Amino acid sequence: MAIKRSSDSPDPDRAYKTNRSKQSSYEVTLLSPQANTQETENNEAKIRPQKLADYIGQKKLKGILNMAIAAAKDRADPLDHLLLYGPPGLGKTTMSLILAAEMGVDCKITSAPALERPRDITGLLVSLKPGDIIFIDEIHRLNRMTEELLYPAMEDFRLDVTIGKGQTAKTRSIPLPPFTLVGATTKAGALSSPLRDRFGIIQRLRFYELDELTLIVKRTAEILQASITEAGAIEIARRSRGTPRIANRLLRRVRDYVQVEKVATITEELAAIAMNLFDVDAQGLDWTDRLVLNTIIKQFNGGPVGLEAIAAATGEDGKTIEEVYEPYLLQNGYLSRTHRGRTVTAKTYRHLGYQPQESEPQQTELL
Ligand code: ADE
Repeated sequence: MAIKRSSDSPDPDRAYKTNRSKQSSYEVTLLSPQANTQETENNEAKIRPQKLADYIGQKKLKGILNMAIAAAKDRADPLDHLLLYGPPGLGKTTMSLILAAEMGVDCKITSAPALERPRDITGLLVSLKPGDIIFIDEIHRLNRMTEELLYPAMEDFRLDVTIGKGQTAKTRSIPLPPFTLVGATTKAGALSSPLRDRFGIIQRLRFYELDELTLIVKRTAEILQASITEAGAIEIARRSRGTPRIANRLLRRVRDYVQVEKVATITEELAAIAMNLFDVDAQGLDWTDRLVLNTIIKQFNGGPVGLEAIAAATGEDGKTIEEVYEPYLLQNGYLSRTHRGRTVTAKTYRHLGYQPQESEPQQTELL
């Protein structure tokens, strides 16, 4: 299997770099579930599971994909188009690479912002070999023209291109080899229904359980040849916001810390000291999580407050708050969403050392 990355992919950290004047880029790199730095680029390939059997967690998704792979191989067909949705850092790209490896095909990785012009997607499509996988990250951000080129490509493996302009314009259909599109998004609801309807399999990735993250930390430590105790692995897992990418990044930072301290093994105590140093608290909340929650308490009396007001008051990008930070805070009871805006909970007051307010709004919206 070969991994190809579209060369003109935009910098995925740009939103962070431009919107985080208060934070050093170091903090951003460490804590963001989304940040994809050179360090992670270089090391991630080494620690990524290569086979479905090595992939820890997401049991239901693995079951479905195992079946889809077996059936597709049996029929000598490509896999059905697959839409993976869920918060960043949970393994959507990894899963796409595993699918390619299991099917014995190439995977071309790109993201919607890199597919700006029609020739970006047409170039990609005509370069495919039968069965290949195209992985499009942030697929909810595709522009209309690119999306419309994808419809016949996905449905009939056909590229409809218009040649010329005005009255002399002609449409030509170019046959494409059968391929699989894997779309990834943090916002399934933002996909247009014609696009969503063209995916044969739509699956959500969930936050990982503590035991799954602990196994991931231990597996990565073994690959990195870092010695770690069971309790040390649990401590890192506990502070990883249910997200393998964060777990692996924290492990690397803790490993740096023990190395500088000239200690041979990562223990629970050393892991805790190191992560406190990096501003990751006992529940795994980071600097930005606490900024958002503290702002709602101090400036908006606990809420309800709208996303744009939080963004303006914190200097963070509203989309980043919504797509990267909120899902974990909502799922873990630090934040609730009412029809009037975001509200912090009694758990948040306690966690941040405030006296809880008398009453909390009851009406919450389902995610
Ligand atoms: N590394 C990152 N995510 C992983 C996963 N789900 N299983 C095993 N190793 C991983």
